[in-house]
Amino acid sequence: MRIAILKERADGETRVAATPETVKKFAALGATLAVETGAGEGASVSDAAYEEAGADVLSGADAVKGADIVLGVQAPDVAALAGAKDGAWVAAIFDPFGPTPEKGRERVETYANAGFEALAMEFMPRITRAQSMDVLSSQSNLAGYKAVLAAADTYGRAFPMMMTAAGTVQAARVFVMGVGVAGLQAIATAKRLGAQVSATDVRPETAEQITSLGAKPVFDDELSAAGEGGYAAELTDEQKAKQAELVSNHIAKQDIVITTALIPGRAAPRLISDAQIATMKPGSVVFDLAVAQGGNVEGSQANQVVERHRVKIMGYANTAAHLAADASALFARNHYNFLSAFWDEEAGRPVLDEEIGDAVRLTRGGEVVNERLKG
Ligand code: NAI
Repeated sequence: MRIAILKERADGETRVAATPETVKKFAALGATLAVETGAGEGASVSDAAYEEAGADVLSGADAVKGADIVLGVQAPDVAALAGAKDGAWVAAIFDPFGPTPEKGRERVETYANAGFEALAMEFMPRITRAQSMDVLSSQSNLAGYKAVLAAADTYGRAFPMMMTAAGTVQAARVFVMGVGVAGLQAIATAKRLGAQVSATDVRPETAEQITSLGAKPVFDDELSAAGEGGYAAELTDEQKAKQAELVSNHIAKQDIVITTALIPGRAAPRLISDAQIATMKPGSVVFDLAVAQGGNVEGSQANQVVERHRVKIMGYANTAAHLAADASALFARNHYNFLSAFWDEEAGRPVLDEEIGDAVRLTRGGEVVNERLKG
């Protein structure tokens, strides 16, 4: 059983899919590990550290030669997999519903045609035993933290209230929209920095979570759109109008807004319009964590600070990549927790069960097999 880890090639991707820690753990299961030279560079992991952990450090082509499994953060182009075994597994983020769904879908087809088994880590079901395998959670958590730090850094004022000899500095007001994994971490981080925090979501159960973090829930009973599997559904047009009213009343008093709202399989919902930005105080900052998925905020642009009505709107194309070492460590553990949970000692390789295997498997035997991609 040979596992290969390639250097990530996507623009701005600094993460890596295995760390010396997970290399050692896979080796203990009996696997042979091959890591492409420089794969850990962006995450501050040296080739020597991988070698010490027991991996062979090789060129990309040599690393992938004869591989049974290739681990990635973002799925590599099929061309980079030449020489891997027939039917090899590739576990990574495939993002077939990303901002350009046709492209994502096309890539899945190329995997099918090449005979590889694509395992989409972002399709991990939201069930208790898969929590430790869930890359969306591990990466969103760090992203929520980073969004607050980046917004605080861009904001021209302090977060905590400060009593100084020269007078009092007021605490910043932070509003978090979307209280999933990233939003909860954003609330906790903003609280730790001393801000006055409020938050909203369309899943009513989040109100209690917001309160338990010491923040103020901003809710309307009619704004409930719980979807399947712990995710949100899209609001009706009537609800959207209601939400716009709720947000308009609140947003003008905020200094920092962090938006994190996503709906699986769709573009990110629009939460803040340009007209609402115009009501905010000069110097306010809006961080759009969903900018790469189409954006929650009108006018947001990935990796840019856009100024509208004296309000700064910002967001990163890949927020977790701004914390490459921690993001990689967690991503690598997600991969290990996934494959090791299914490790079959007799076969010397993982054998997936139906519940998780069918959820994450996109292609097999030359076909696209995932239900979510059919129809
Ligand atoms: P997500 O990234 O899909 O969405 C972020 C947040 O935006 C969600 O809370 C969603 O309700 C909210 N949202 C969507 N549309 C909105 C709108 N129009 N206005 C305001 N907010 C909107 O969600 P995430 O972070 O992936 O988590 C969703 C839930 O799944 C959470 O309750 C989380 O605890 C749970 N979860 C369970 C796991 C497991 O059991 N294995 C693993 C990860 C998360």
